[in-house]
Amino acid sequence: MSLSLKPRNPVRAKISAVGSFVPPRLLTNADLEKMVTTNDQWITERTGIRERHIVDQGTATSDLAAEAARNCLAHRNIPADTLDAILVATVTPDMFFPATACLVQTKIGAAGAWGFDLSAACSGFIYTLQVGAKLIESGAHKRVMVIGADVMSSILDYTDRSTCILFGDGAGAVLLEAAEPDEIGLVDFIHEIDGSGASALYMPGGGSLHPSTPETIAAKMHFVHQEGGAVFKVAVRKMAELSEALLTRNGLTAADIDLFIPHQANKRIILATAERLGMPEEKIVINIGQYGNTTGGTIPLAMDTALSEGRLKKGMTILLASFGGGYTVGATLLRWEF
Ligand code: COA
Repeated sequence: MSLSLKPRNPVRAKISAVGSFVPPRLLTNADLEKMVTTNDQWITERTGIRERHIVDQGTATSDLAAEAARNCLAHRNIPADTLDAILVATVTPDMFFPATACLVQTKIGAAGAWGFDLSAACSGFIYTLQVGAKLIESGAHKRVMVIGADVMSSILDYTDRSTCILFGDGAGAVLLEAAEPDEIGLVDFIHEIDGSGASALYMPGGGSLHPSTPETIAAKMHFVHQEGGAVFKVAVRKMAELSEALLTRNGLTAADIDLFIPHQANKRIILATAERLGMPEEKIVINIGQYGNTTGGTIPLAMDTALSEGRLKKGMTILLASFGGGYTVGATLLRWEF
């Protein structure tokens, strides 16, 4: 079976370019061995992560996001001032306000664009992708830049071995434009949130509930807190469930998917999800070994990895899936059009 859907809207959205950026500095498993009681073998076997990139002090999420956006624009060979909107998925904005999107807009010179940030943790990118797609499909906009970017190192406790090994800093961007009449582009999505999981993965301090005080700092409330085992199980179950439901409602099976590009949280989560879906390993994009979990950045970074390896080609049917703090879950079906 293949994708031959009748367009539901006169205008469909497609991804027309991808760009990504990670800061040059590496934090390897060997480096972490010197910081916490851990070892390369444990991290590699339990997560698949070998190294991650982290920023130098003074580099913020908007810097990574702007660089990813510039790379994306360069691949499409268009100037920044042709963008109608910039949407940024992040849980580590430069500051609460202004939105990171505003800072990116001025850094890349996207005069005339509007935009905002969207907070959905590790599902942020695919949620933002759908919001951007609706701006294209409605006819309101011609070019929307969707960016997933996080500086996770800014909210990690580098004395907590159960979290600090998992995450890295990075950004990825995609350009959304209207599909040509013979193109399909973005097809369908299913998203779910479940706030009953809020305290399994969260950063409790700094918001309106626990504003920053010397006490919140002493209690380490400005760092990521996680019940790793609980998150692991729900992540596998829900990513598989939503992906399966999305395939079924579009008359597809895993065999119809050319490439599965999941959120990169843990290689074992990815493989267990794929196994439930009946997706063979050669169809999965996995780059977590190099980058760790960059939260908003993982899926567009993985798209860029697949493009650079020649694995992502025009006409392919692609499944995206994500899971993150919230809980937030998502699955997206699309056809690759460039
Ligand atoms: N190095 C060495 N040992 C470690 C360690 C580390 N970095 N982190 C934890 N351990 C220890 C634990 O203390 C525990 O020791 P104990 O048995 O003496 O108590 C042991 O390893 C097993 O811990 P456990 O938490 O059961 O390991 P795990 O196999 O569940 O792996 C995670 C831990 C965090 C890697 C895993 O739970 C995970 O990936 N969860 C999902 C995280 C995630 O993806 N979050 C983002 C979602 S978007």
